[in-house]
Amino acid sequence: MKHMSNRDQILIAGCGDVGSQLGLNLAAAGHQVFGLRRNINQLPPAIQGIAADLSQTDTLKGLPQQLDTVFYVVAAGSREESVYRQAYSGGLQNLLQALQQQGIHPRQLFFVSSTAVYHQQNDEWVDESSATEPDNFSGRIMLDAEQIALQSGIPATVVRFSGIYGPGRNYMLSQVNRGTGYPADPPRYSNRIHRDDCVGVLQHLWRRSQQQPLAPVYLASDDQPAPLHEVGDWLAAQLGVEITERSARRTIGSKRCSNALLKQSGYQFRYPDYQSGYAELIKAFLR
Ligand SMILES: NC(=O)c1ccc[n+]([C@@H]2O[C@H](COP(=O)([O-])OP(=O)(O)OC[C@H]3O[C@@H](n4cnc5c(N)ncnc54)[C@H](OP(=O)(O)O)[C@@H]3O)[C@@H](O)[C@H]2O)c1
Repeated sequence: MKHMSNRDQILIAGCGDVGSQLGLNLAAAGHQVFGLRRNINQLPPAIQGIAADLSQTDTLKGLPQQLDTVFYVVAAGSREESVYRQAYSGGLQNLLQALQQQGIHPRQLFFVSSTAVYHQQNDEWVDESSATEPDNFSGRIMLDAEQIALQSGIPATVVRFSGIYGPGRNYMLSQVNRGTGYPADPPRYSNRIHRDDCVGVLQHLWRRSQQQPLAPVYLASDDQPAPLHEVGDWLAAQLGVEITERSARRTIGSKRCSNALLKQSGYQFRYPDYQSGYAELIKAFLR
């Protein structure tokens, strides 16, 4: 077991919303945190910025000499296939190659993936052992990237987040506030995780990885998969607005994500359901 007072060197590639919150927590715990992204101007001072583009190998030359852990938390900036490829499979491959070329051998790699890898759409429960046969490019590229992480030669863990909600992500709240709800027929299951739990899960798994090997894949989603129209209707009631039309666009899938493995590993959700997670967000939205 590694001595806990050690100061770890940690790289967060794709240091945006989730990455920066994670980095701040790890820096506050005494670790040295590097945050890699193209634009480092907004990074908090506790995180040492590395300005680099994961799709441009020549920008990845000056990585820190020694790294204990690498978190890959990149999000594609648009829904174009080429951008997806660059952000996930291509970017990860470039980073791994740069690490290898520079003789840097992290002990642990975390790759943040998404539940887009699942194709299920008939309200099935899915977990880490469920089939993944995505019929769209985003899911297929994520699956490719997962494989690259798991076959990297570095002990690697994939964390599949469901839909992230939280501070600053007000799309659904704004929509419902305008009176637009979701069609109730047929009901479509949606799955969520609060941004703070995304950070909490990564930190929890990182801590656990210092004591014992992790599973290759964890599904990270709260306790309560819920039909989208129910979530919309609940938000409307909280906001005190009436749903006047049910025309909001929904994704096609309908599945229920199980977080049993994550909870077995000892993780306790700060926001186990959307009602608890949205309570503060609604207050801030109405302020
Ligand atoms: N949003 C969801 O509902 C959802 C669902 C499931 C999984 N996820 C995953 O959750 C994770 C957290 O997302 P988030 O909300 O924290 O995203 P975010 O705030 O958009 O951060 C993503 C970061 O990636 C960086 N980035 C993008 N392309 C890059 C490139 N070519 N080179 C270097 N850096 C690059 C961006 O910085 P620059 O633009 O400055 O480079 C940004 O800081 C991501 O892995 C995402 O795929 C999200």
